[in-house]
Amino acid sequence: MVALAELRESIEEIMPGVVADRRDFHENPELAFHEVRTAGIVAERLRALGVEDIRTGIAGTGVTGLIRGEAAAGGKTVLLRADMDALPILEENEVDYVSRTPGVMHACGHDAHTAMLLAVSRTLATRRGEFGGTVKVLFQPAEEMPPGGAKPMIAAGVLEDPHVDAVFGLHINQDGPLGTIDVRSGPYMAAADRFSIKIHGKGGHGARPQDSVDPILIGAQIVTALQALVAREVDPVESGVVSVCVFKSGEAFNVIPDTAELGGTVRTFTQANRDLLERRLGEVATGVATALRAVAEVDYTRGYPATVNDPAMTEIAREAAIETVGVEHVRDGAMLMGAEDFSYFLQERPGSFFFVGSRNPERGLIWGHHHPRFDLDEAALAVGIEMMTRTALKYLAS
Ligand code: NI
Repeated sequence: MVALAELRESIEEIMPGVVADRRDFHENPELAFHEVRTAGIVAERLRALGVEDIRTGIAGTGVTGLIRGEAAAGGKTVLLRADMDALPILEENEVDYVSRTPGVMHACGHDAHTAMLLAVSRTLATRRGEFGGTVKVLFQPAEEMPPGGAKPMIAAGVLEDPHVDAVFGLHINQDGPLGTIDVRSGPYMAAADRFSIKIHGKGGHGARPQDSVDPILIGAQIVTALQALVAREVDPVESGVVSVCVFKSGEAFNVIPDTAELGGTVRTFTQANRDLLERRLGEVATGVATALRAVAEVDYTRGYPATVNDPAMTEIAREAAIETVGVEHVRDGAMLMGAEDFSYFLQERPGSFFFVGSRNPERGLIWGHHHPRFDLDEAALAVGIEMMTRTALKYLAS
């Protein structure tokens, strides 16, 4: 096993380069499935490190490579994943490394994820003699844009050749203080689905409702009725959300319109609740509309599934986290209603997804993910690199 001090020192030595990489990616953000420059740099770096079997262009811009340990023959294969894409946000930070592409910004920390996994690759590539088994590093496009990059990469075969036994991924966490790591076993992040409901009523004069079928009134009844689903039909010790975030109808103060459109999001943590809410949302919307003489057309689209961590793999991550930041800084992560397409990897293989705290109020680094002033404390990168490296080595040694 790798000595604690030795690993930390070697990471500290490469940190200036890691920060430079992160800032370079930050300055040159690329939207989902357009991570051409980023993926090019990733592949070039992996080649320079002597990483084997580098494959590029997977699901568009995805990259994978293998780092084979030499301490023992054969052994298991563990996959480590980073996402590479930025967001369509106009950056409001005033830093040297501000985005050079107006309207595109690394506002979620994927620049840091990519830089960290390159550093983990480097750390492991220089220690091949200290472990047995294989580490597969995977750089993924398009986490921010469902259906996302994970699913097509899996379809392209990234979990085979060699067969991947376990998967780990991380996210920078601006809700977590610098120096903390959050881990959680079981459901962690929600499944995120979307819906739209089109209500077909009958327009008319605002003074003569008896001649109309008012889609606005019916839409309002549907909004209210949908709130009964989580409150009355989901087990209260479990959780879910139905949010109507779009309600479009009408143009004139004295005209009852023909139609109304509702739209929103549904979040759940279990397959049973996901199935329940999808079915009941349709029944309630069409039922209320029918009862009030209108017709509702419901369109329900499933997005990322829930992110569910394997208990045994999470225990390995927890031990690595304790070695990295000390037991007092390892937190039990709270369930999150946000979604993450690492969940597709977790549907196929046991693994764990964890969060590395990067919030630092003393330096004004308090803005959350997807905010135009999002920025992170780069000291978190060293924590993430050490955590990921330890997790991989611990798994391979298990
Ligand atoms: Ni993200």
